[in-house]
Amino acid sequence: ETETEVELIGKNEIFPMYKPREKFSNKGTYGHALIIGGSYGKIGAVVLSGKAALASGSGLVTTFIPKCGYIPMQSSFPEAMTLTDHDEEKLTDISFDIEPTAIGIGMGMGTDVKTHVAFQKFLESNSASLVIDADAINLLSKHKEDLKLLKAQTVLTPHPKELERLIGKWKNDFDKLKKAKAFSKKHQCVLVIKGAHTITVFENKMYINSTGNPGLSTGGTGDVLTGMITGLICQGYEPLMASLFGVYLHGKSADIAVEDYGYQSLTASHVIEYLGKAYLDLF
Ligand code: APR
Ligand code: MG
Repeated sequence: ETETEVELIGKNEIFPMYKPREKFSNKGTYGHALIIGGSYGKIGAVVLSGKAALASGSGLVTTFIPKCGYIPMQSSFPEAMTLTDHDEEKLTDISFDIEPTAIGIGMGMGTDVKTHVAFQKFLESNSASLVIDADAINLLSKHKEDLKLLKAQTVLTPHPKELERLIGKWKNDFDKLKKAKAFSKKHQCVLVIKGAHTITVFENKMYINSTGNPGLSTGGTGDVLTGMITGLICQGYEPLMASLFGVYLHGKSADIAVEDYGYQSLTASHVIEYLGKAYLDLF
């Protein structure tokens, strides 16, 4: 077994990755993010994720949701374009005629059999960079043969329960990281293990994030992270860089926002709202 290198990620590691906004640029320069997910009662997950992709700097954002989410999405997120599935309440046919730069998928999506079939077909034909979260991870865990459909450098962002379903139960933290590393290697994916100290695993390296706080322990913050990483890939960051940068900015935004809102009252929407301040803090 090869040795694992571990790196702590702070401002000094993040700043050199930063891509400035060019004067002679337009929305096309910064890519087109597509956020796919949602089901009846969980459209908000896609709203949050899409808004986070936009706030991270993506030039364009499209959301793809079940039909019931059309009006709430259009009313709450005017910057986004919205595509809908034929089904009212869940995703059953994930097809579209746009060419997104990167796609975030899975938040609030549910694990219905029809959604699984649609997800499988989507994976077979997709060529855009992919960030896989929440129920899309759960579907992969339930149907491990689908993991073969993932392209190299796909990003997966599991929380602890999703990680357990994906890589199996671990005996201790050491065993967890060993399993995570083996998984990342086998599927050539970037594994973002979310928690108080989010650890990103890729090839023989592990990156420990230094930002974030318990104010983030509230519904929707994970959806925000997925949108951010998708939006960063759209702007030309490699999937690993986008993951490290996204996790860092997400935590930093929360660290700045708690100063105004406190740990108890911080919400996922605040993390989006303070993203600009997190960027400005790099300088
Ligand atoms: N300190 C720092 N960061 C934290 C802390 C903490 N104590 N607690 C949580 N976070 C961060 C995590 O690192 C992660 O980035 O907040 C985010 C939480 O992400 P998720 O666990 O995915 O939470 P959420 O967005 O609410 O997920 C919504 O989707 O994944 C499903 O089952 C999940 O129903 C849930 C839904
Ligand atoms: Mg989540």
